[in-house]
Amino acid sequence: MSIATTDNPKKVTVHTLENMAHRGEKISMITAYDYSMAKLVDASNIDVILVGDSAANVMAGYSTTLPITLEEMIYHAKSVVRAVKHAMVVVDMPFGTYQGNSKMALQSAITIMKETQANAIKLEGGKEVVESISRILSAGIPVMGHLGLTPQSINKFGTYAVRATGKNEAERLIEDAKALEEVGCFSIVLEKIPAMLAKRVSEELTIPTIGIGAGKYTDGQVLVLHDMLGITQDFSPRFLRRYHSLGDEIRSAVSQYSSDVKSGSFPNNNEQY
Ligand code: KIV
Repeated sequence: MSIATTDNPKKVTVHTLENMAHRGEKISMITAYDYSMAKLVDASNIDVILVGDSAANVMAGYSTTLPITLEEMIYHAKSVVRAVKHAMVVVDMPFGTYQGNSKMALQSAITIMKETQANAIKLEGGKEVVESISRILSAGIPVMGHLGLTPQSINKFGTYAVRATGKNEAERLIEDAKALEEVGCFSIVLEKIPAMLAKRVSEELTIPTIGIGAGKYTDGQVLVLHDMLGITQDFSPRFLRRYHSLGDEIRSAVSQYSSDVKSGSFPNNNEQY
């Protein structure tokens, strides 16, 4: 891990993000789960790397984020932290490691920070997790909140549709966002909510908001790396901008290799000892 010292003044910290938001400079965040990708991402001028529990979907093939364990998240986070010199690394607390028990939440957060040497944790929820957040903060661990479509609650929602389109849920979300700011979160992810609601939340808070499917008015944006690169191809929500179709390129490269092996054209005389 590197922190902002005189030998590495460029390491992104919570203060960097706070200053960026005050200057009106947008924050870029993206997920990574392994060493090789994190190294490429960190060399791409990204501010924050999220070791998301979306690893359950894109790395492990589960249909929800619920099954991933603390140990699995720690494995991914350690791999990412080993690669990263510049970006701030935030690690998702997995389902079942913080809800409803603030002592357990503190213990889980300490385990993540001790074993991975990441820079912060993220967890989902509003007022109901404030006590857990408060304990985690008391140990000096920065906390990023997450509101709106919180995937760990998919069984309660029943669908991945846009959240808080109605007045009551929108008001509740604003109250939750204020509670997260008040307890001391340094930033909040707003997932899949109407753009005008995200605008209102961003205007009412002083801490930076990071949106995914929450429109253009948030202080920053986050995407899942495998989605924006086109590695995952069966997921196409309206908010997702694909910057590459790497899935097609990988398939084509691997099938060319396979056919070269079968035809005997690989390896050739120059590719042997
Ligand atoms: O797990 C994840 O990748 C996330 C982002 C979608 C914000 O929480």
